[in-house]
Amino acid sequence: MEPNGPYIVHGPAVIVDADGHEREVALGHTVKLCRCGHSATKPFCDETHRTVDFVSRPRFEPEVRR
Ligand code: FES
Repeated sequence: MEPNGPYIVHGPAVIVDADGHEREVALGHTVKLCRCGHSATKPFCDETHRTVDFVSRPRFEPEVRR
């Protein structure tokens, strides 16, 4: 995951969309999936996150033990 940017998927992997359509990511290939919601090529990132000032919190918060 890129801070303030997309999810990054390194192959080999299979991405399944909400309709169950599958897209293979081959070994040695990488795809970026939009997290900001502004890409014109969803579900893929088209770098629009850079112009919409998308801010994310890509790190786990420390676990609070009680
Ligand atoms: S995360 Fe890059 S366009 Fe949305």
